Amino acid sequence: MEIRFPDIPLYQGWGQPLRVESTCEGLQLVEGTPPAGLTGDWYRCGPDRQYPSLFADDIFIDGEGMVHQFRFADGQVSYRSRWVRNARFLAQQQAKRSLFGRYRNRYTNAPEAQHVHGGTANTSLMFHAGKLTVLKEDDLPYEIDQDTLATGARTDFGGAVTAVSLSAHPKIDQHRNELITYSFQARGDGSREIAVYIFDAQGHKVHEVWFDAPWSGVVHDFGVTDEHIIIPFFPLITDVAALQRGGSFYEWHDDKAVQVAVLPRRGTAEQVRWFTGPNASAGHMLNAYSQGSVAHLDVVLYDGNCFPFFPTPDGRICASGPPLLTRLSCDLSAGNATYTQRVLCRRPGELPRIDDRYMGKPYSQGYLVMGRGADGSGTVGRVDVRTGEVDLWAHGQAISVHEPHFLPRHAGAAEGDGWLLVILNRLDRGHSELAVFDAQAVASGPVARWHIPVRVRSTFHGCWVSEALRRDGRYNCGGE
Ligand SMILES: [Fe+2]
Repeated sequence: MEIRFPDIPLYQGWGQPLRVESTCEGLQLVEGTPPAGLTGDWYRCGPDRQYPSLFADDIFIDGEGMVHQFRFADGQVSYRSRWVRNARFLAQQQAKRSLFGRYRNRYTNAPEAQHVHGGTANTSLMFHAGKLTVLKEDDLPYEIDQDTLATGARTDFGGAVTAVSLSAHPKIDQHRNELITYSFQARGDGSREIAVYIFDAQGHKVHEVWFDAPWSGVVHDFGVTDEHIIIPFFPLITDVAALQRGGSFYEWHDDKAVQVAVLPRRGTAEQVRWFTGPNASAGHMLNAYSQGSVAHLDVVLYDGNCFPFFPTPDGRICASGPPLLTRLSCDLSAGNATYTQRVLCRRPGELPRIDDRYMGKPYSQGYLVMGRGADGSGTVGRVDVRTGEVDLWAHGQAISVHEPHFLPRHAGAAEGDGWLLVILNRLDRGHSELAVFDAQAVASGPVARWHIPVRVRSTFHGCWVSEALRRDGRYNCGGE
């Protein structure tokens, strides 16, 4: 069968599938001076189609996972990329074609895929208890070799996880060396169960709670504070009957309110408290923290459907206003109630990150992809969430950026004192660059920039494994 990708915008220009695994020892430095003492591995993950999809109306969140590694060592940066060889990839490799149909819709798959898991392993990576794993929210994690990026076993954490999947947005409390994660549709497609899991520094399960969501929907991200777990439910809902008719995995319900569950960090199902708010949606959370009786969740909020390629049940496509960083505040002293919401920054942004040492704590700094223009260009910015002020890199060039990743200057550095790692897409030149910014002077542009000889087509999220973290298996930020 000829390999021919459909002529759709997703696959045009920068979006053309790359389909190449690369190794480049020692990227060429093209600008500036690399920060001293930056040693470790930055891992990222994104989709890159193995074969043309069975359906021409492909969407950007689908596609086989490609893991990327930037190794900072001996004064150089080396780059490596490898596909995740999970069950789906191997079955398609054997068949020499795609076997999976519409996003997560098993009823549209080829007959050969009937007993093969459709997980793409394309969303993020996590490092906990000495292991690196690649994540996609419809599947369990796969272990990844930290040096070669070779795919290891699909893991249920030694039998500790009975849910069918785990989120691609787990939270790691670096002070307690604790992993907090969850599963939605935890008994399978269309189920309403939510499962929350907490693992200690050694990877042992220390807490688990199950409760019913208001509907069988998407829960792409959540919030964890020192005291609470906050799970928002936006009305993108799975209808198995619609799947059986070949429809979208999610349908947008513009008549439904948002519901937010708040429970103690070691809470039971009986302790879940519910808050509601106006119809809206969000994929990504920036951070969360508790302040007295109030649990705050800072999200990139859309006033409509954040995934407009998922229609309403009657087939309408609903647009949304721009994504705005917004604080949802749930007052637990008020009983079951509505939450309040306040916009933190008027400049649209997405793919938000924090200084990860402040996960769950009062904080001030956020880092986002901002200002995506009609020509596809975009840039990176720092937001002070207390004032809404933005420190933006205004490059004025045909460049787009991937999600920024903050690294502290040293373990004891103040919040925000450190570096931002960013992959730049040189839309004008057809290749990517790796850039490091001073996180307190983003507007000044990169302090160092390396040429990557290939296009790093698309990455969603990732993690940094410092030399010390790799050696010790534990995060060190003056923990408890
Ligand atoms: Fe995400």
